[in-house]
Amino acid sequence: MKNKIITLSLLSVMLLSGYEAQSQNKKQTKTLPAKSLSTKYDAEIDKLLSKMTLEEKIGMLHGNSMFSTGGVKRLGIPELKMADGPLGVREEISRDNWSAAGWDNDFATYYPAGGGLSATWNAELAYTFGNSLGQELRAREKDMLLSPAINIVRTPLGGRTYEYMSEDPFLNKKIAVPLIIGLQDNDVMACVKHFAANNQETNRDFVDVQIDERTLREIYLPAFEAAIKDAHAYSVMGAYNKFRGEYLCENDYMLNKILRDEWGFKGIVVSDWAAVHTTVKTLKNGLDIEMGTPKAFNDFFLADKLIAAIKAGEISEAEINIHVRRILKTLFQVKAIGASDRAKGSIATEAHYQDAYKIASEAIVLLKNENNALPLKLDGIKSIAVIGNNATKKNALGGFGAGVKTKREITPLEGLKNRLSNTIKINYAEGYLERYEVKNKGNLGDITMNGPVTIDQLDPAKLEEAIEAAKNSDVAIVFAGSNRDYETEASDRRNLNLPFGQEELIKKIVAVNPKTIVVLIAGAPFDIEAIKNKTNALVWSWFNGSEGGNALADVLLGTVNPSGKLPWTMPKNIMDSPAHATNSFPGDKTVSYAEGILVGYRWFDTKKIEPLYPFGYGLSYTTFAFENAKTDKKSYAANETITVAVTVKNTGKVDGKEVVQLYTAKSDSKITRAAQELKGFQKVSVAAGKSQTISITIPVKELAYYNVATKKWTVEPGNYTLKLGSSSRDIKKEVTVTIK
Ligand code: BGC
Repeated sequence: MKNKIITLSLLSVMLLSGYEAQSQNKKQTKTLPAKSLSTKYDAEIDKLLSKMTLEEKIGMLHGNSMFSTGGVKRLGIPELKMADGPLGVREEISRDNWSAAGWDNDFATYYPAGGGLSATWNAELAYTFGNSLGQELRAREKDMLLSPAINIVRTPLGGRTYEYMSEDPFLNKKIAVPLIIGLQDNDVMACVKHFAANNQETNRDFVDVQIDERTLREIYLPAFEAAIKDAHAYSVMGAYNKFRGEYLCENDYMLNKILRDEWGFKGIVVSDWAAVHTTVKTLKNGLDIEMGTPKAFNDFFLADKLIAAIKAGEISEAEINIHVRRILKTLFQVKAIGASDRAKGSIATEAHYQDAYKIASEAIVLLKNENNALPLKLDGIKSIAVIGNNATKKNALGGFGAGVKTKREITPLEGLKNRLSNTIKINYAEGYLERYEVKNKGNLGDITMNGPVTIDQLDPAKLEEAIEAAKNSDVAIVFAGSNRDYETEASDRRNLNLPFGQEELIKKIVAVNPKTIVVLIAGAPFDIEAIKNKTNALVWSWFNGSEGGNALADVLLGTVNPSGKLPWTMPKNIMDSPAHATNSFPGDKTVSYAEGILVGYRWFDTKKIEPLYPFGYGLSYTTFAFENAKTDKKSYAANETITVAVTVKNTGKVDGKEVVQLYTAKSDSKITRAAQELKGFQKVSVAAGKSQTISITIPVKELAYYNVATKKWTVEPGNYTLKLGSSSRDIKKEVTVTIK
């Protein structure tokens, strides 16, 4: 039964995600829905409600531990048990404070962070990610995963850029939807966060975000909307900050009007930790559960204060029932009540490590490869210098916020050792030290601070050792970038500089060994222009999960042909980036998103600014040509779907995967538009010398803009150019269609 569900869901993922159904039944166009919240338990829920005391009901509306809400034992209602988060199931936290519970059975698989998953541009892998993680969550006997985190990457400096998916709403939703479906296929619920307009850490506790309506609809909400309407996520997390003057956990417009009334959301809204500020208002405006950080749980806004408010007649018990009913509904849905066949799950299994490996290996992005420096040719190679603190740095834990306690995190150095024969000598040198200025390291929990200040002077002895290693080796690989202490929740970075003196180190290494490859391990853009100009080969990896080091070694050695593409723009200069160019980051008490819809590449392309690396960019060890691009028709009605076919030819010598990206443009538009917008993509595997024809479908309604006057999505008639490229700046074919 379980298998059947998974197969159906996988098919729905492929269809929902623009993936051509690879089955024999190529003509199948029907989209199978994800499982929505069932109404079949309603009578049973009413019965339970009629037996509950007011105190028991209130107990379900707030944390009774750091990661659970109260149950009602005598009625068989369990606690609702939650766990972070985006990188895998977080270790068990104590019931009443943030320290680890000290369990020995909470080791989990560490999955690649959001940026890495998106860089795969592979919806099937997003399903795998969710499904694998859902199994781990069940093995830990939890009901809700506080994930996925899908806020738009508005500024490259954002502390959570590594955790989030993309700067683009389309890629964001196409990764989020299958992930949620995969997760919820395991009798657990996703908690999609942080709803919404939470795009910076600076002042996140109070900053009031102002976004114009069109931008909100076109950029910041689509992935959340798809998470609700297409993936049927059962819960949503309200964000910390304010939106248009009202905290997001008590924001009538966002929670009642948009989420519930417009999108038909029937699930539960959970607060971010300590993001609730009122009692009656928060409930009336759409929140269901208050979670928080240490204080007595009955001091929460939705605990004793709520009982007092009911007694004072400020809110009725009937209104409380609405929230309790929703929570019960989700508990029934995930079989936490009333079922004996709930998925049991499994955790930290070899199969899950292999899921993490598959994702990691498709996430790695090849940024530069002059003179075929990569893959490494081992003939005649006797020694390799492995340089840099990041060769051994682990990132499953670190920084502020959720990480994963894992028994397996293969570092880059271990990956190379695993994959290289021991006849090749590895000369390891740490090269740079990860050091911070103590006074600016910040206190955990101080979320108004700027990010850590690094010490960027190289240690002379470490530098000398690294230079010696590079001199005495046939090839040098420098592992640089950042880590999860430097990129972290609760603060934004101060600038794009490579930390810890890495730039100087790399220049000195290249000077003594021209055969130097640079690998950057990071979750967000950095200024790597000087490095790019110095080296022949540049590879980008991520906080890439338990198997990250093995995947990286396989890419460096050519066992895996890289196929990752950047999910955001890497600017040359932070001031080129839209939020910074418009001087609208981070704001003070208020931040107005002055760039409007021109987020990410939309800004760079429209303003004709050259990025360092464009959105969607990534090389391969082979080359691809696009041939024969055509649409099924020349003109379409508003309710139709455009099918674009293109033949991808592998013109190189090795098998590889290419991501065909489809951008649309309307140069004669009567409204302000971005120069181009991503509206479809497909990853395709093509053997050397062979061709594959793929087709990408775009429902015409995807071409709509949000018309503020009519409050409707509106498709402007006329001509549209469909641009097929291997990145946003490498368009290979164009086709024009007419919309009637
Ligand atoms: C984060 C959430 C997280 C929660 C619980 C908050 O600080 O913003 O993403 O789920 O903590 O750890």
